[in-house]
Amino acid sequence: MTTVTRGAVGTAHTRVEGRDKVTGAARYAAEIPFAELAHGWLVLSTVARGRVRSVESDAALAMPGVLAVLHHGNAPRVDTDYVGLMGMSPDPSIALFQQERVAHLGWPVALVVAETSEQAREAAESLVVHYDQEPHDVAFSAERQSEAYALDGHMPGVVEKGDLEDRLAASAVVLDAEYTTPEEYHNPMEPHAATALWEGGRLEVVDSNQGTTWIAGELANLFSLDPASVRVRSEHVGGGFGSKGVRAHQVAAVMAATVLQRPVRVVMTRRQMFSLTGYRSPTAQRVRLGADADGRLRVLEHQSLNQTSSVHEFVEPSAAAGRSMYGAEAHHTASRIVRLDVPTPTWMRAPGEAPGSFALESAFDELAERCGIDPIELRLRNEPEVGPVSGLPFSSRNLAACFQEGARRFGWADRDPRPGVRREGRWLLGTGTAAASFPAGAMPSSAAVTAEADGTFTVRINAADIGTGARTALTVVAADALEVPTDRVRVRIGDSDLGPAMFAGGSMGTRSWAWAVTTAAAELRQSLAPGADIPAEGITVRSNTAEAVGALAQKERHSFGAQFAEVAVDPATGEVRVRRMLGVFAAGRIVNPLTARNQLVGGMIWGISMALHEEAVRDRTSGGLYGADLAGYHVAAHADIPHIEADWVDDPDPDDPVGIKGIGEIGIVGAAAAVANAVWHATGVRHRNLPIRPDRVLMAGGDA
Ligand code: MOS
Repeated sequence: MTTVTRGAVGTAHTRVEGRDKVTGAARYAAEIPFAELAHGWLVLSTVARGRVRSVESDAALAMPGVLAVLHHGNAPRVDTDYVGLMGMSPDPSIALFQQERVAHLGWPVALVVAETSEQAREAAESLVVHYDQEPHDVAFSAERQSEAYALDGHMPGVVEKGDLEDRLAASAVVLDAEYTTPEEYHNPMEPHAATALWEGGRLEVVDSNQGTTWIAGELANLFSLDPASVRVRSEHVGGGFGSKGVRAHQVAAVMAATVLQRPVRVVMTRRQMFSLTGYRSPTAQRVRLGADADGRLRVLEHQSLNQTSSVHEFVEPSAAAGRSMYGAEAHHTASRIVRLDVPTPTWMRAPGEAPGSFALESAFDELAERCGIDPIELRLRNEPEVGPVSGLPFSSRNLAACFQEGARRFGWADRDPRPGVRREGRWLLGTGTAAASFPAGAMPSSAAVTAEADGTFTVRINAADIGTGARTALTVVAADALEVPTDRVRVRIGDSDLGPAMFAGGSMGTRSWAWAVTTAAAELRQSLAPGADIPAEGITVRSNTAEAVGALAQKERHSFGAQFAEVAVDPATGEVRVRRMLGVFAAGRIVNPLTARNQLVGGMIWGISMALHEEAVRDRTSGGLYGADLAGYHVAAHADIPHIEADWVDDPDPDDPVGIKGIGEIGIVGAAAAVANAVWHATGVRHRNLPIRPDRVLMAGGDA
């Protein structure tokens, strides 16, 4: 057998499952056939607050094919008294049908199960539910700050260093500005869908999620099951973005499968996803910066407010990003929440950093203007030696290299800093920039690598490929660690029986899994004597990185980036067109440039969409959204997206076996600020409220 090896990491590879996906051979959760399959359809509340008085199931049960109607009066009990992810108790929103309370519009109140999906839907839509309605409150605004409070989730809510007022008084230049971002949604292309069945005393769930170790653990806890008796599979996933954790569909499917003792599938509709799968909270942020005349910061204050539901506290940690970005003598950051009668928000691509960077990086641009300093130069003057609040060393910090390379490629040196002076026909032109950062972490995972008798290798790792190309990245990483070509490696993922592993989240998936795969593969390679026979069952080596990851030294670990945008604004119509965009990132070793570029460009496109289009509007009367669908929720389309380039500087993580940092989320960070800063440069008007809609551009006589 030829063993021509080369470094596969760092070279372009198309997705290993790409052919299966484009030919339809790859099956998504709702497409996998099961014998005797029944179908569940969720019924959601039509009131935003109150109690379910009664569910009139008799009429529904008499309809063709209907097998069951589950509701708070008859559903199996679940237990939410456990410690879930990140040491938090679970969101009671997933404890379906446990009590009569309705916490928001679109709260699950029943599940209708029938022989066919159409029968279930028909009965669900005709199901009569009576409510005792109560007045609701969904009015989020900056004024709610007076009722807000902070809490320490996976990061501290409030961090204060130095005397704010004293340092503000000592500052030559002070900026004090308020910014808002709206409610935003991360509906993936593939809706949430799960099939549950009991087989041989085990609960089996075929699902679409971001990590089956996570979902299996949650279901075992909720239904008080031995974790070994729960198996969750999720082989192909059509997008997640933070929305695909434990949700109503899996819980409802398990309940119905338990009651009926046959396989039950629950698929969410697009409209249901808008109240059941999380979203990014609106934010109201205030940034105060104080600086010397030469731009050196004395004060950084960032306060952020977000909404959460009445049943669970979710913090969008928008104020946290500044803690590792910029140093200041007085450094105060706080992310607070206010409780409303709305669905619980959740992680959505770059939680905290995406809205937080819009405010902070816009504020930096405003400060640069006031100081008369180039915005890149302002950031370079404020580059910290160590973590500005933590005092910890950076594992690596190549933000300056991103700005230098980005400025060179974007042509920043020729930029006239004056706003509102470039015209091209009806268009005003401008350019803007912003910094990006995102934490780079790793979590324990286990992997098994088998040398097969035929000379190939099988890697088993419970990774989740949610469209990122993780399966391909792990194939490439394993091939290098085994020193064989990639076509001799097959990777099995998406099955909780493969053993515990990190989920696809926090930009930590590929890094965490690659670490475990590299460890097992390297050990296997060393144990294989050259030319030795391999038994029929192969030779397997297992790894678990808990100890190695736990031994990582305390450091500030982040990816960084510099975003550049050029826009054209028509002041007569208020139309903003992004003409080109460039992102240069320092985000660890890039495993697969092809899929990495996809990932980064995808984030940047989302940033343009955030800057110009996305906004879910909550109707205060009903408590629900106007246009809870992808027709009413405006996202960037092809015609909105110009030439976008994403590239990177060399930045291997010194403490990672492959050098990976993680690139899942950083692409969106700073992107909206770069666009907003470019709009200011084009027009001379600051837009501090997203999205920068045509009406806002038109109405902006002065500051918007
Ligand atoms: Mo991501 S928002 O950590 O799934």
